[in-house]
Amino acid sequence: MNASVTEVKHPLVQHKLSLMRDKDTPTPLFRQLLKEISTLLAYEITREMPMENHLVETPLGETDAPFLKGRKMALISILRAGNGLMDGVLDLIPTARVGFVGLYRDEETLKPVEYYFKVPDHLDERLVVVVDPMLATGNSSVAAIDFLKKAGARNIRFMCLLAAPEGIARMQDAHPDVAIVTGSIDECLNDVGYIVPGLGDAGDRIYGTT
Ligand code: URA
Repeated sequence: MNASVTEVKHPLVQHKLSLMRDKDTPTPLFRQLLKEISTLLAYEITREMPMENHLVETPLGETDAPFLKGRKMALISILRAGNGLMDGVLDLIPTARVGFVGLYRDEETLKPVEYYFKVPDHLDERLVVVVDPMLATGNSSVAAIDFLKKAGARNIRFMCLLAAPEGIARMQDAHPDVAIVTGSIDECLNDVGYIVPGLGDAGDRIYGTT
């Protein structure tokens, strides 16, 4: 059975996302909105984290209080646009361990090759949250998760701002165990792999490049 796909319909997410879609939204505002949405999406993606109770002494007495259980979460950015989602998640979960996956496509084999891979230890014992703003063809997300699984990751979730139905299908085919949280499921991909209506090239809009 496929893991869940959650489209976060919260009005704050939808409002901020609509501002980001506008082609005239300037880079600093785009980046700020992405940070704010990533905090809201992180709230959703961490909903099922395991808890354990510990005794706490309040000023008025003792209570068996719930705390997060186990190792710190691993937050993994797919370079470069994934970095735009990092700070908002870290505002909410400052104890998260952080990793980076950089991929390029080999023009001969057409296969994704990692040019950078630095991730926290004990991945097998952590919730691993992979972030990339755009789930378009799914090629880079699927490849990044392949590498993370080879490095031991078992409990993986994927967080993005926008997802195309084609990218979701590709992810569910390759990694049916990975739950997806997105701000929107858009209409489709165009013939050069951009999400429609989308918001353009997320990396360029975050960093002001063309
Ligand atoms: N990557 C982007 O930045 N934008 C898209 O629409 C698709 C992939």
